[in-house]
Amino acid sequence: MTGAPAAPDTIMAVTAVTVRVPAKVNLQLAVGPLRADGYHDLVNVFHAVSLFDEVTAEPADELTVTVRGESVEGVPVGEDNLAARAARLLAERIGARPDVALTIHKTIPVAGGMAGGSADAAAALVACARLWDASGVRLADLAADLGSDVPFALLGGTAIGTGRGEVLTPVPVGGRFHWVFALADGGLSTPAVYAECDRLREAAGQRVGPPRRSQALLDALERGDAEALGAALANDLQPAALSLRPSLRRTLQAGREGGALGALVSGSGPTCAFLARSAGHAAELAAALSEAGLVRAAVSAHGPVPGATVVAGG
Ligand code: C5P
Repeated sequence: MTGAPAAPDTIMAVTAVTVRVPAKVNLQLAVGPLRADGYHDLVNVFHAVSLFDEVTAEPADELTVTVRGESVEGVPVGEDNLAARAARLLAERIGARPDVALTIHKTIPVAGGMAGGSADAAAALVACARLWDASGVRLADLAADLGSDVPFALLGGTAIGTGRGEVLTPVPVGGRFHWVFALADGGLSTPAVYAECDRLREAAGQRVGPPRRSQALLDALERGDAEALGAALANDLQPAALSLRPSLRRTLQAGREGGALGALVSGSGPTCAFLARSAGHAAELAAALSEAGLVRAAVSAHGPVPGATVVAGG
């Protein structure tokens, strides 16, 4: 072929990838006895809700992390940041250098029991995999090494986590549920809440059996029955979170008085979750909780929503 202009190179280098990732609330968190490895066997019904962080990954000379958003003082920006660990782990797996600038826009409450750090790690895995063209790598395996809640942030929807929470089975859900989340000032440390759970159980002489799934809760999800779901919500970490943060009792009570179909501490807390009857009821309840002055903020959201998703770049 002579005379024809050379075809332009259509493979463009990806310059930035942004991934949106949801928070989770635990609809059932059944906690078994302490294991020899320091973890607890769980039945953990995860539900992804429409409170999102966004993580942008861009090529850089070295690995950096920048965190933006309200109340982000507690988020580490160095080596310990879970999103940075995710980038390093993926780079190691593919034999590359982790030279990436990660920018995290946080909306998910920090240390709030909604797996925000885990969400950022999942988002960083997806963003860096796209940036580095690592599509052959099974991100779910890396996710489990980063933390018990990271695999669910990749998957999203509603799923039962067993083992330490990382072995996931999706759960059928017959509708959309409307939630209000009451955000507290300051966070709670997840290991401290698990340790308090063990302490309270031991002090009460409680014999702890293996965690069991709630069929009533799974049936309610499948039917899309908010009233039955509200009645079935259960969190074994709640007594421990209330022991460490007694003021949460008043928050839960205020939500119940506002007509919530169910009220519980989200995961290890201190965020409290309220199931509303409708989107309108959720907006009303969020306004009432904000006005009551018991909480830092109250926001409404719905679930289930998808897990970590590329929204720009790549
Ligand atoms: O897995 P991840 O690093 O997110 O867990 C944080 C801490 O939460 C663990 O160090 C452990 O104290 C506690 N944990 C637990 N049992 C689980 C999950 C977490 O005791 N199944």
